Amino acid sequence: MSPTHGTARSFERSLKWQKRAEAVILGGGQAHKRARLPGPLMIERGEGCRFWDVDGAEYIDYLMGYGPVVLGYAHPRVLQAVAEQCARGNVFNVGHTLEVELAEKLVEIIPSAERVTFCVGGSDGTSGVIKLARAYTGREKIVRSGYHGWHDWCHSERGALLGTAAYTLTMAYNDLASLERLFEQHRGGIACVIMEPVGYEAPLPGYLEGVKQLCHDNGALFVLDEVKTGFRYALGGAQEHFGVTPDLSVFSKAMGNGFGICAITGSAEVMDDVAGVWVAATFHGEMSLVAAALATIAEIEEKDGIEHMWHLGNMLLDGYREMTDRLGVENVRLEGAGPMPFFGVTGGDERLDAMRSTFYRETLDGGLYLPEAHIWFLSLAHTDADIARTLEVSEAALRKGLAAA
Ligand SMILES: Cc1ncc(COP(=O)(O)O)c(C=O)c1O
Repeated sequence: MSPTHGTARSFERSLKWQKRAEAVILGGGQAHKRARLPGPLMIERGEGCRFWDVDGAEYIDYLMGYGPVVLGYAHPRVLQAVAEQCARGNVFNVGHTLEVELAEKLVEIIPSAERVTFCVGGSDGTSGVIKLARAYTGREKIVRSGYHGWHDWCHSERGALLGTAAYTLTMAYNDLASLERLFEQHRGGIACVIMEPVGYEAPLPGYLEGVKQLCHDNGALFVLDEVKTGFRYALGGAQEHFGVTPDLSVFSKAMGNGFGICAITGSAEVMDDVAGVWVAATFHGEMSLVAAALATIAEIEEKDGIEHMWHLGNMLLDGYREMTDRLGVENVRLEGAGPMPFFGVTGGDERLDAMRSTFYRETLDGGLYLPEAHIWFLSLAHTDADIARTLEVSEAALRKGLAAA
């Protein structure tokens, strides 16, 4: 464990690096894009479910790179697969046997997948999939629910083309009536619904099936954004877990254990119709990413990784529930499930804010990296002992928080 456990951290070296970053990196670093992360931290290296900062402190990580690191940092099998592939060439953009093998594997494990095309990163894939949905239906509007990336159509802000955003409608999750209203208001104009199947909140019984039915009743495609849930909720994503098959899906994050691969998958009927639509880029043909994905999927399968992450997630959430009940702490959020759990301490007034900030400072000091404003991710590298340690440090931090409040 960290040499700094139990003592107030100085973050001395991290702060020095942060100053250098502020001088040259937009917004002071990649992490600036992701508000309210514990820190400031500059990382030296990672292994398994842990990373070490430049001040020498060790953390059990629950961010895991925002989800891609499903096997653990620096996983030997993935590193070897990538190294071997790089030694044989990385980008050809000519036919390659490895991409056939990966596509065949995805068709085998993803319930709705009959055809596959590869992209790089989740935003690339979600932008590609809505283009395919528009091409197939000949319609322009889309309905979304959840986060789908940084592009104009789904992240409207200063600099985005507002005209593009006007074609994106938003439905409320777990509220079929809100989708029904959109279909009525935009009759014949909606190409697809793209949604995260599950996040902090679980789908109500029949909800996902209801969305699919409404889509099909109105001539629209049902698209699942499985960028977070793929290779976590089940090997074949939330669609396998909940037993609801979409027309099109997007998988990324956990697919390559930290290498930026993405796959759009779909039915033969839809995909064959749009095969000529231009969703293509030079690095869609990066074979090291394909090699990483094949190794990652094989490892999850062989190690029963999905079952392991569900076990750990349940252990973590049950532990927090028991702890907060026992301590009588109410300003907490206990959400998500299994491989994507979430525990958060909330503020609101002076007393609760003091408790909240004490909790996050003390858990960081105790060697836990707990995202406050994002769902957590488990990996095959987390163990029962890591969960027990996490609960132990969290309880001590909550007790200090109560004392500070
Ligand atoms: C559900 C979902 N879709 C799409 C994206 C965008 O992926 P990326 O950040 O790799 O572009 C994310 C990223 O967090 C996501 O969670």
